[in-house]
Amino acid sequence: MAFDLLTYQHVGDKKNSDFFEEYRVKIYERRISSGLEQLLGKMRGVVIQVETGDANGYLEELYLMSPYRFVAGYRSTTHNIYVLVSEDRFPRIFVIEPLDADFEDDVRRLNMIYPMARSKPNARYIGEIYQSKDIKETCKVLESHNIRFEYQGDTENPLYTLDAFLFTVPSDFTYNRVGYTESDFEDYDSLQLGTPFDLSAEQLASLERQKEAGKEAGIQRLLTGIDHMATRILAGEREDAILEFLTLSNYYFWGAYNIHEMNSSTNVNRNHNVQDDKESPAKVFTANNTPSFVNSFDNLPMPTEDFVRNYGRRMHHIAYEVTDGDHPSGMKNVDYVVGQLRTLGVPFLAHVVGECKDDPDLKQIFSKHSKYSILITEYVERCHKFKGFFTRQNVASLTAAAGSDERYVHGHVFD
Ligand SMILES: [Fe+2]
Repeated sequence: MAFDLLTYQHVGDKKNSDFFEEYRVKIYERRISSGLEQLLGKMRGVVIQVETGDANGYLEELYLMSPYRFVAGYRSTTHNIYVLVSEDRFPRIFVIEPLDADFEDDVRRLNMIYPMARSKPNARYIGEIYQSKDIKETCKVLESHNIRFEYQGDTENPLYTLDAFLFTVPSDFTYNRVGYTESDFEDYDSLQLGTPFDLSAEQLASLERQKEAGKEAGIQRLLTGIDHMATRILAGEREDAILEFLTLSNYYFWGAYNIHEMNSSTNVNRNHNVQDDKESPAKVFTANNTPSFVNSFDNLPMPTEDFVRNYGRRMHHIAYEVTDGDHPSGMKNVDYVVGQLRTLGVPFLAHVVGECKDDPDLKQIFSKHSKYSILITEYVERCHKFKGFFTRQNVASLTAAAGSDERYVHGHVFD
């Protein structure tokens, strides 16, 4: 049966306001009537900025921890741009690295506000790029909905105003941008990202070593594409952040679950045009249930709110799916992958959570955050065709593990 955006009943036990429910449907209706629903397609790319000099280290990390491989490099007037591909899958990854360590744009200005983001002032997940049939029309429609876009001359980084792209300004609710392109991302030269460059023999050799290490450990063939990506936001902005994303995309609000133990909720948005989320990864928003300043009344945990206070609203993790199955060594595949990565020196937060016995279930784990991108990598195995995005117990354990790694000590407040 075809998916009906307007009558879909979302799942979960997190209570939403009447305002949210009213505008959720109004936004869907407006997407259809304005033509936006038909203009927009799947997620085609994600953009991640790293500090000057960190791109090589980040690529090495991706070669070991992900299925992504370098396919093209370009130098713009301000950045090195590395295009990475996971077999023939989407989204592509664009790693951007300022040429000058003192480069300053919105990324640095935002990062400098937050105590734990300052040490890597240019490192930040930037945003996703979605397919559009017509980016000029997309701009026209969304501007009539009061969405702001970057225009030539407005940005220090020319990437955001290339002819091939349309990018919003960073969202006030998530600090992520949303981009659009008409390109099929097959001919990278046509994007006019800058002057092409090749990696040095030394860089290629170091990436090859990482790839071989992953291959020898037997983990590469078990890593598939991106399953979901999770952004952390403030308690009071949960509904606005979701509604804004629904305004900007062709995703739908799948549902939200309350994670009582961690005083937070997990809010999942999916693309209804794909059968497999890896074709257009789910967008998850995580927010505390109560803001930090009232938390001391009940002394509940608040790792999500603390993360935002420490690092700013931002993408928190990118999750890769591990092929479901029992590894010949006797473990589930995700346990095997994580065990091998640990042996190769990749640090993880706590242990794999989830049972995965005879019933559909989920096994998940968080790595420590990358020192290059500040992003956590999640590995997830959907056992026996588990359909959902999480189990409440898993999320509580993962959130607790990440929280204890993101502490900031200041005055009497130990975040
Ligand atoms: Fe996740």
